[in-house]
Amino acid sequence: MKRIVILTGAGISAESGVKTFRGSNGLWNNYRIEEVASPIAWERDPKLVLEFYNQRRKQLFEVNPNAGHKALVKLEKKFNVKIITQNVDDLHERAGSENILHLHGELKKARSTVDSGLVYELKDWPLNIGDKCEQGSQLRPHIVWFGEAVPAIMDAIQIVKRADIFIVIGTSMVVYPAAGLINYVSDETPKYLIDPNAEEVSGIRNLTIIRKKAGEGVPELVEELLGLGKL
Ligand code: APR
Repeated sequence: MKRIVILTGAGISAESGVKTFRGSNGLWNNYRIEEVASPIAWERDPKLVLEFYNQRRKQLFEVNPNAGHKALVKLEKKFNVKIITQNVDDLHERAGSENILHLHGELKKARSTVDSGLVYELKDWPLNIGDKCEQGSQLRPHIVWFGEAVPAIMDAIQIVKRADIFIVIGTSMVVYPAAGLINYVSDETPKYLIDPNAEEVSGIRNLTIIRKKAGEGVPELVEELLGLGKL
């Protein structure tokens, strides 16, 4: 089976009602990264950080996967599909996708502050001061904050290197190391970028830009690829 590797960002969840980070109505217009999404923010005011992620987690229990997420599931019929997502929501999982690698963590998980290997599923949205891991440390959101390492990046690089088709959906490609993954895809590999505001990407060969919203552009591309199915 041919390998399709898909890199997604906040744009694929926009039509589900989840805010993107940048752009006119982006989350970072209303919050300061250094106050809610960095180790310094956690040191300075963990209650504020927990509240920020509690609100996002609360919303996640209220939204659903959209046509973009759902269309990707169809590809699994004919292709070996791997999704590498920068998103911390669980909308790919809830749409039914099988192979998902979260680069920046998961909103519905918390982890220990003394042992990052201790990760816990959150069945409900509140995570508060006083919620402890089995070693008695305060739990923190299982999110990769700015200034922190991205533990899954080496796995992601190996995955994109082996792609027969590479699809990028709904990311501004400004946050590294995720934005650099496209540079590991071979020149011969057909690449697609789906984003209504996409700019030209210099130095990338075999790239087709689809300036559409994910809810429209992804189902169309999926139908096309399924039609080609043999490649
Ligand atoms: N369909 C497809 N793309 C869309 C849609 C849509 N309906 N709506 C917006 N977009 C595009 C925007 O044009 C933009 O290029 O999605 C992109 C979203 O970009 P960002 O808000 O920068 O989100 P992302 O690239 O995922 O951010 C990367 O930055 O804040 C950190 O850790 C956070 O994972 C995040 C990382």
